Amino acid sequence: MAVARLAMGVSDVEALKREAGIAACDFVRDGMKLGLGTGSTVRYTVLEIGRRMAEEGLSVVGVPTSEATRELAESLGIPLVPLSEAGVLDLVIDGADEFDSAFALIKGGGGALTREKIVAQSANGMVVVADDRKQVDLLGAFDLPIEVLPFEWERTRQRVEEMCPGQVSRRGGDDPFVTDNGGYILDCSFGASISNPRSLESDLLDIAGVVEVGLFVGICDAVVMAASGGVVTLLNESGRLG
Ligand code: A5P
Repeated sequence: MAVARLAMGVSDVEALKREAGIAACDFVRDGMKLGLGTGSTVRYTVLEIGRRMAEEGLSVVGVPTSEATRELAESLGIPLVPLSEAGVLDLVIDGADEFDSAFALIKGGGGALTREKIVAQSANGMVVVADDRKQVDLLGAFDLPIEVLPFEWERTRQRVEEMCPGQVSRRGGDDPFVTDNGGYILDCSFGASISNPRSLESDLLDIAGVVEVGLFVGICDAVVMAASGGVVTLLNESGRLG
């Protein structure tokens, strides 16, 4: 499997993202209020929703999880509403950087984790779209993104470093990446060692200056995963969509 992954070119990965993104639209029903995730995989979901609205008369409203997704959805004519108006969403579809067998996620590779978690916690179900490179035994090989306030961010980083065995770097270095909320992202090298994501999330959230942590635990109900052999939907048995 590792050899197959190494041999996989960029266009193959892009094809898998597209397959997963489109397949997830099987969960979409007419009239739904949808959370629209952020990233290069769920982008295909948003494009497909736009296509179905234009060509098949699908009617949905969306809540975007980033300004990038807002722009994409608006360009496709998908009507958008704020969460305060939408109330509880029927479903959110979003990408992930990693997922484990308990459907815990690392998210935030695109820096949108805070809005993504706010939207995900406001939905009756969450479907993740991913290719099979994202499936892991233990979370953490992908550096865990944490959004922090710019105010005294170096002090916040020191406190995060006390909990993280590896490097903690501000994304973008001296030319920092700034989130849609005006925050910074700390990328934290835990290594594939996160056996209790719930408790790590809670410990990190205790640090003043931490806005949100890219661990999503007990939220994901299904993963639509594309691999070279085809697309499979992994259903979380303790989830809400089973
Ligand atoms: C955005 O902040 C992230 O949570 C993305 O959903 C995640 O990084 C997956 O993105 P890709 O589909 O681009 O890998």
